[in-house]
Amino acid sequence: MHRFLVVVSVLAAGFVLTACGEEKLSDNPVERSMQIRRRSFEDMGELFKMMDDELKKSSPDSKKILDAAKKIETMGKDIPTWFPAGTGPESGFKTHAKAEIWSDNPRFLKMHDEFMAEATKLVHAASGDNNADTMSQYFTMGVACANCHKPFRTEIPGEK
Ligand code: HEC
Repeated sequence: MHRFLVVVSVLAAGFVLTACGEEKLSDNPVERSMQIRRRSFEDMGELFKMMDDELKKSSPDSKKILDAAKKIETMGKDIPTWFPAGTGPESGFKTHAKAEIWSDNPRFLKMHDEFMAEATKLVHAASGDNNADTMSQYFTMGVACANCHKPFRTEIPGEK
């Protein structure tokens, strides 16, 4: 039974990914881990955008917002593990990760710590019933996302 459920959920995930027109996962383990990393960030980006859409509504769904904040916090904890050595631009595979993630790793980890502090504060704010507080902490966390992107993420011309 357990095994059956695992298979079903793997298939369901595959279906959703195909439905979104995502590229196929590579057989190369390095490229594959980089594709999964990008998907994880894209999922975080979607949660982030969903919170924005919700917060703009005249009566935001506070449970939806809290759930998204919790997911971002949980996923966010793992970010450093998404960057094993050898998965940067030197791999030759498509990535927006800059080499500085590894060459200046203490700074990368510091940006991550600062981000996590804001993500946790957002969970606290979203647990309350003050929408203005949630909104303001949402923006503060967004700045912490950007503070890591500025030094450590690049945009490749011609790619989204
Ligand atoms: C500690 C650093 C760090 C933090 C914090 C961080 N990101 Fe990123 N993010 C990156 C890096 C590096 C990449 C590029 C990954 C790659 O291409 O392999 C990335 C990629 C992305 C992408 C995919 C776009 C692309 O480059 O193709 C999205 C979307 C994204 N991040 C959203 C967010 C959001 C939203 C937050 C905050 C809630 C956040 N990130 C926090 C470092 C970070």
